[in-house]
Amino acid sequence: MNKVYGNTPGLKPGQISRLQKLYRRRVPSEHAVSPELARDLAALSHELSRQVGLLLDRSGSVHFVIVGDDRGLTIPDLSDYRRGKGRLAGLRLVHTHLNGEELTEDDLTDLALLRLDLICAFTVGEEGQLGRFHLAHILPAAKGGKPYSVWAPFSQAGLDIGLSSLLSGLEAELSGGARQKGAPGQSQRALLVSVTPAARAEAEEFMEELKELCRTAGVSVAGTVIQHRAKPDPRFLLGRGKLTEVALAAASREADLVVFDQDLNPSQIRSITEAISLPVIDRTQLILDIFAQRAMTREGKLQVELAQLKYRLPRLAGKGTALSRLMGGIGGRGPGETKLEIDRRRARERIRRLEKELAGVSDTRRTQTRRRGRQGLFIASIVGYTNAGKSTLLNALTRASVLSENRLFATLDPTSRRLRLPRERADILITDTVGFIRDLPPDLATAFTATLEQLFSADLLLHVIDVSNPRMENQVLAVEKTLDELDLSRIPSIRVLNKTDLLDPESLRAVRERMGGVPVSALSPDTLAPLVSLIEEKYKESQGAVIEKNG
Ligand code: GTP
Repeated sequence: MNKVYGNTPGLKPGQISRLQKLYRRRVPSEHAVSPELARDLAALSHELSRQVGLLLDRSGSVHFVIVGDDRGLTIPDLSDYRRGKGRLAGLRLVHTHLNGEELTEDDLTDLALLRLDLICAFTVGEEGQLGRFHLAHILPAAKGGKPYSVWAPFSQAGLDIGLSSLLSGLEAELSGGARQKGAPGQSQRALLVSVTPAARAEAEEFMEELKELCRTAGVSVAGTVIQHRAKPDPRFLLGRGKLTEVALAAASREADLVVFDQDLNPSQIRSITEAISLPVIDRTQLILDIFAQRAMTREGKLQVELAQLKYRLPRLAGKGTALSRLMGGIGGRGPGETKLEIDRRRARERIRRLEKELAGVSDTRRTQTRRRGRQGLFIASIVGYTNAGKSTLLNALTRASVLSENRLFATLDPTSRRLRLPRERADILITDTVGFIRDLPPDLATAFTATLEQLFSADLLLHVIDVSNPRMENQVLAVEKTLDELDLSRIPSIRVLNKTDLLDPESLRAVRERMGGVPVSALSPDTLAPLVSLIEEKYKESQGAVIEKNG
């Protein structure tokens, strides 16, 4: 027996059976709905004092008959009707409105979130007669404007809307956009979302940082949505209305990924993914992806892969559609041979294997560190908050120095370079590290530490600070706290005040007084001499210490 969905309690058997008979109706293919069917729906709806709706497929067959109350109706689960990126659901909603209203916010939300072919509502007069028709469809590539188009109201004479060419046109545009976005070498486009109780300025700054993380991960930013909320919604994090805004913004800006600044639990990831029909990841996953790209040593790679697997394991439950889609791109990159469709059992096996392997590798690393120590190489490691200018400084320092082939260092990872100290006429090693990041989730600490493992053999830390960043002080504290936790604050360090070109002399003086350290601009190599001198001093001190110890 055909099921009638929605608000059926209280209906008489005869009424249910008339609703069930609607499943046999067919609509001519070019019509939104046929005038006869619309008239019958209007009469029935009037009699029941409830909205009545049909979900029709493209051949004009009825897939769902739905009854609501006098103000709205609830659409059943359509997850089986998803047709992939750039496609519409293949179903349209046709339903009655009993109070003369035009398309409501709920109608437009359903249209966007469920990617319905179109939505058509018609009013029912006081005698149950047909009124005006209201119709809307998704608008592809709506740059900045509304992502849907609402037609001017029309009468039943206008129901032959040329449905097939309308839909094929829409789908061509939608999938054209999707093809472009998915083209090889093209980065993903993410809509960034933050739900936070923080004040506006702080929220915006965190958003800037999330943007920076995206860029680091190779994801371009399609737009941002911030919702100020004291308490996050347990299911969607955002309020329902804001979720709609996210879906609409993602559609209109052609985003193919949504990144949340807050951590999402597995069920939130699932609920949000289902609701907005786009892959959803959180900041943790984004950071893991960056670590995966950056981890250079064998141990680092294993640690990151382990963290990725542990993070994903609980998210492998349930329907999994969200996951398999999401893992195709960002968040799907692993440093190892991670299979994207890996199932829970295989994930657990892999975790066990990685843990065993890691135990072995750590032993090797300790040996290597000792060996390197014996060779007496002086290592200066660059640390600092993300975007402070670490890589730029590494390049500037080493470009200025005499580079020569050096087989000794050939086995080191590519973020290590040689620097010739001009006065001492000695070579030292400079290494770059992954940037420090605010609120590093505790689960990631080990993976992050793995990316910092060269630091354990460092003789000197160059702590690069972006003096142009308004939150510089907090960033410095965050870095120093992490170093402390890793027991690295015992290593001598130099504060490198970078990006001084962005400050006026007065502010720079104030910053220097507060922070100490050497001012540089990594973009201008001629500002680096005082820093190099200081490195030489520290080098000399360390050599002195060695001589003292040996003598
Ligand atoms: P992560 O790898 O994300 O940790 O970043 P990083 O610390 O390695 O920073 P990176 O060297 O990538 O520099 C970040 C941005 O700051 C780049 O756009 C640089 O061009 C810019 N930058 C670096 N140094 C300076 C500087 O002295 N002055 C100015 N104005 N910009 C700089």
